[in-house]
Amino acid sequence: MNTPPATLTVLISGSGSNLAAIINAIAHKRLNARIERVIADRDCAGKQHAFSADIPFTLIDRHLPPNEFAEALNHAISEQTNLIVLAGFLSIIPERLIARFPKKIINLHPSLLPKYGGMGMYGKKVHQAVIKAKEQESGCTIHYVDQGIDTGEIIAQARVPVYLQDTPETLQQRIQKQEHELLIHTLTTLLHPKAV
Ligand code: GRF
Repeated sequence: MNTPPATLTVLISGSGSNLAAIINAIAHKRLNARIERVIADRDCAGKQHAFSADIPFTLIDRHLPPNEFAEALNHAISEQTNLIVLAGFLSIIPERLIARFPKKIINLHPSLLPKYGGMGMYGKKVHQAVIKAKEQESGCTIHYVDQGIDTGEIIAQARVPVYLQDTPETLQQRIQKQEHELLIHTLTTLLHPKAV
């Protein structure tokens, strides 16, 4: 690879399996990138992935007053970052950050948006709603972040079947597997369009 690695900032709130997928893809040279910082808005299991890979880590408490939270987040993200990945980040991104990084913030959502998105739709709640509605397929979406919740322009989607015997847990596992692949493919496309 001759092109210099792109720089990423990854924001997490949970288990960090998507963060781990990025770290793994970089380690195996499937993605020409470098994570310059991982930021979490709460103490979460995902921080261990950052520690193990020696990636700088910043915790910004989600309970801070909104202005202070926005200020800290703004400060923690460097100007040079090529892409900010919300990999299971549950706080709302402050408007000033969206304005500072137009088309540089992407979010992952575990459904086929615009279905099953919006306020309160996260984690198992999404899969419960999909099963309750007897959907025959679900999936995951990667989209740009705008002022709304899960409303930004869709970049990529992957579909999975929903089976009659599915529980939110089994459906979540099937979707996460697809999500990790979709994420690495999408990052490659966005960061190195000529290489795809
Ligand atoms: C993912 O399923 C993503 O779609 C959603 O939050 C989950 C994060 O999972 N926004 P993980 O923390 O990367 O394991």
